[in-house]
Formats: sequence, C-alpha cells, structure tokens
Amino acid sequence: MKKFIDDSIVIEGPQISKGTVRIGGAKNSALPIIAASLINIGKVKLTNIPWVSDIDLLLQIVSELGVGVFRENNIVHLSVGDSLESFINPDHVRRMRASILLVGALLPRVGKVNIAKPGGCSIGVRPIDQHLKVFASFGAEIEEKNDFIKVEARKLQPTNFSFNVKTVTGTENALMLASSVKGKSLLLNCAQEPEIVDLASFLKKMGVKIKGAGSPVIEVEGSALLSNDITHSVIPDRIEAGTYVIVAAATGGEVTVLDCIPEHLRSLIYTLRKVGVEIETTANTIFIRGKERYNSQLNCVKTSPYPGFPTDLQAQFCALATKLDKPTTVVETIFENRFQHLKEMKKMGANFLIEGSKAVIYPSLLLGAKVAASDLRASASLVISALIAHGTTTITNLHHLRRGYEKLEEKLASLGVEVHSESLIK
Ligand code: EPU
Repeated sequence: MKKFIDDSIVIEGPQISKGTVRIGGAKNSALPIIAASLINIGKVKLTNIPWVSDIDLLLQIVSELGVGVFRENNIVHLSVGDSLESFINPDHVRRMRASILLVGALLPRVGKVNIAKPGGCSIGVRPIDQHLKVFASFGAEIEEKNDFIKVEARKLQPTNFSFNVKTVTGTENALMLASSVKGKSLLLNCAQEPEIVDLASFLKKMGVKIKGAGSPVIEVEGSALLSNDITHSVIPDRIEAGTYVIVAAATGGEVTVLDCIPEHLRSLIYTLRKVGVEIETTANTIFIRGKERYNSQLNCVKTSPYPGFPTDLQAQFCALATKLDKPTTVVETIFENRFQHLKEMKKMGANFLIEGSKAVIYPSLLLGAKVAASDLRASASLVISALIAHGTTTITNLHHLRRGYEKLEEKLASLGVEVHSESLIK
C-alpha cells in the first residue's frame, strides 16, 4: 500500500542565479487568518494564499469543522455558518504546530476545545505555556490529560494580559480571543511580526477595533457577534523573499525579487550589505547583485524577534556564511535546536563549531553529497548549499520544504537555476 509520497531534489552545482522571481503570500499570515475566519459568521475571500502543504492541511481541518472551502489558484473562499464542529483530528494537529491557533479561533464559537498537544518538534521543545495563560486570562478553564488539552469557557471575558515571552502564535491567539469578546482587552509584550499586523487588519475588517498591532502593546475592542463578508489579500512572504535574496547572494547572482516588502527584511538587508552584497530596494522590489567572493565586514549574526534577524532565515544564512572569507558567528536565540542543517552541511564539507546556541562557521569549500532535510528552513539552506557546492547533491525528505515554499522548482527556473525533482512513494 502506498503510504505517502515524499520527494527529493537533485542539484548540480555550482550554479549562478540570474533573473526575476515573484514572491507569494505569507504562509505564516495565511495560517492565522484562515483560523481567524472561524470567529466570523460569513463569507471570506482570501487572495494571495500560497499553495503549500501547511495551508492544505489547515484547509482540510477547517473543512472537517464544517466550514465550506473552495479553492481556486491562490484564492480561497471560506463559508462559515452558525454551527461548527469542535473535534480536531489529533493526527492533523501533531503534523502542524500552528494548529494551536484553532483554540483561539474555535473557543469563542463552540465553548469547548479538546486538542492534541502539538508536542516538540525538530527545531526545539516549543512550549505552549503562554498560549494556555492567554486562554486562562480570558476566563477559560484548562485541563491537561495525557496528550490532550481541554480548554473550556462558559463565558469569555475581556482581559489585560502581559506575555512573559514574545510569541507570534501566542499573540495571534490572544488577538482572536480579544476580538470575539465584548469589551476592551489590553495585550502587553506582544510579538511584533508583520504577520500579526496582517491578522489585525483582517480582524478589523470584521468590525473589531484594534490599536497598536506591530508594537508591544495592543488594545482590542472586541464584539461577541461578528458576522461580515470579508475580502483580504495576504501580505507577501518575507521569509520566502529572504530565502531568494540569500540564493542570489550565495550564488553570486543578479536577481530581482518582485512582489515583496523590503521593509519587512530590514535586518537581513543590513546584514547582507555588511557581508558585501549589493542590494537596492524600491517599495516592493529587492535587487541583489551577488559576488563570487566576499570581503565580509560581518562578525556575528544573532536571531531575535521582529524586527531582529529572523530565526526563519538563520539556516539559509549559514549556507551563505560558508562562502565568506572569514569566520562568522551565528547565534540562535529563539529555538534551542535549530542547527540541524549544519550537521547535514558537514557531509558537504562545511566547517563549523557549535557551542550551545552559537555556531562559528568557517570559510568552506562545499562538495555535492546526499543530505536529508530535517525541517522547513533547513531544507532551504540545503538547497542553497547545493547551489554553491561543486558536484551533485541529492536532498531527501523534501516534504519539509513543501510545507512552506511554493513552486520552488519553477521559481528557481525563473532565476536560470536547474533542479531535478524525483517523487518517491514510501
Ligand atoms: N515560547 C514559549 N512559550 C510559549 C510559546 C512560545 O516559551 O507558549 C517560546 C518558544 O519556545 C520560542 C519563542 O517563544 O523560544 C518564540 O516562539 P513563537 O511562539 O514566537 O513561535 P511560534 O509562534 O510557534 C512562529 C512561526 C515560526 C517561527 C516563529 C518565530 C507560525 C505559524 N510559525 O512560530 O515559523 O519560527 O514564530 O518567529 O507563525 C517556519 O515558518 O519555519 C516557522 C517555524
């Protein structure tokens, strides 16, 4: 019996990228926005939705909850009626950590959500204590039993809540709950990522009053009954854009990245300019002129919450770091196990030293090898490494990459980069 289809990719290196690439909608905006559609009874039309497997999975979950889902290219139509199921398939939840967003979306509608614990994942432990504190603060009772969490609220109430840790999906859960209870809520020490601002603009279209999204303090005046027809276009994916910017820099290419928001990538652009990459921007375009060799002025890159250097671009940056003329220190402050790409890159000849959350990456000559992707961003870093490396690289476990990169082969082809995919039936 066919179990699931995975695929691998074969890349002959080195290759130089040259051309234009268009960026799709942000996966990490689309996920909370699709979830937030549940709190509003009405029809929702979402445009610029990326075709990636995480979105497929969430759409499957919401359709199992009773939402009408119709999809056409990058447009998704959702039809949310006045009754919803509350059973969320635990197998789906375990496959995607973002499903924790369904609690903030469903609780106001069904009053009780029993969800499988998302569990740790390959990049770290990823606790959900802040989410649970948010639910409790809005008046929910929480019971953890075996591998499940039961969240129940007879009546939700507005709240003042301060996060101990900046959390993206935690802030998004709080925003959804605050939007669907009547009254004013004040959220402090919120994450500031552009995806949160996008979710807030979607919620505002439901009639919710929100001030301060994108800053640490968000004020929400929610409503117990949200019933509107809404159209919303998801913002461009800054991580996809950043990945292609790094592809250009690492392959010494000349690339124009279209349909992106350079402002969302300020820390990456600053970092790459220090490396010696030439970058020019307009309001929605980034032009990159890479070099064969860099005379880098950069000593260290440290990931931090937005507007700092994104953890979701750390792995891709590591691939570029092997090409620099001096050692570069990379400090990962968000997730405790996000250097797995380096272990695979070692098979290609990457020279580095890891000490806890710090990796020093030395100039290295990469050679083609057989490597395996361990998570979404690690897969992108292996693609970039393969494009720099001399010889043939085969990257397996590519289902990780399919979670968040739309039409990778097509987009690389638009940059003159050739890759060959192979489907495997396991
Ligand atoms: N944290 C806690 N307690 C919590 C929640 C988070 O201690 O209850 C800690 C985490 O362990 C981590 C830090 O807070 O150290 C930040 O985690 P956050 O909650 O912000 O991560 P997330 O919301 O689960 C989102 C993205 C991730 C991205 C991170 C950080 C979505 C769906 N996912 O995850 O995206 O890495 O923010 O920016 O928005 C990816 O796209 O590859 C990806 C992993």
